[in-house]
Amino acid sequence: MRNTIIAGNWKMNSDKNFIDEFFKELLLGKPSFTAEIVICPPFPYLLHIAKKTKDIAIKLGAQSCNANHNGAHTGEVSVEMLSDFGVKYVIVGHSERRALYAEDDLMVAKKVGAVVNANMKAILCVGETQEEKDAGKTKGVIKNQIDSVLNFLGAKSFSGSVIAYEPVWAIGTGITPTAEKAQEIHSFIRELLADYDKELAKNTAILYGGSMNINNAKDFIGCEDIDGGLIGGASLKASDFLKICKAV
Ligand code: PGA
Repeated sequence: MRNTIIAGNWKMNSDKNFIDEFFKELLLGKPSFTAEIVICPPFPYLLHIAKKTKDIAIKLGAQSCNANHNGAHTGEVSVEMLSDFGVKYVIVGHSERRALYAEDDLMVAKKVGAVVNANMKAILCVGETQEEKDAGKTKGVIKNQIDSVLNFLGAKSFSGSVIAYEPVWAIGTGITPTAEKAQEIHSFIRELLADYDKELAKNTAILYGGSMNINNAKDFIGCEDIDGGLIGGASLKASDFLKICKAV
């Protein structure tokens, strides 16, 4: 059985006032959710949000981590530190980290390894750029990104973690693939997982990310192999995020 997961990726946005207002609005009607809801704020706000989500079914996620346990890594945050604050999910390999902070496949694989060894779940982001899409390389790119993690880690260790298919050209642009096209890629990802382990393929939640919003969330999540969303912009508006959480 796979859970439906709605994860909000706040990126480098928000402040304390924003968070206070956000949760006031989100929790106003004491909502209950059938999906698993995750919010991934910037590191400094993890504790602030942990306090607010203490008694409700919203899980805490982080946007990145370092693969090392401790030591001389100025500015970095270890998985043990995140776990200490009640973090359950860590986004790894987001295209912004890959493109802007030079995270390559090996680094991504090591980070996923660190996350699962700390008993948290990784949200492994994969997806093609516009150029790769235009060159017909979408499936090849995704296969490489997934192979590099599963070959490094082994399929069993990845069990329980999550994949987010995020076409880079869809992130923050308002442009998305059709739900049918996204479903085709999700189904391809599930087949890739099945090559490693049939149970892993059946049980791994595969989220769609990239301009998901209140107007298209239902169409995406209604597809057989789309098990939820990793949502950037629309997760920063409490009313929109709530509507998407409630739509599943
Ligand atoms: P977006 O971002 O929903 O704003 O496109 C998604 C993401 O980058 O995870």
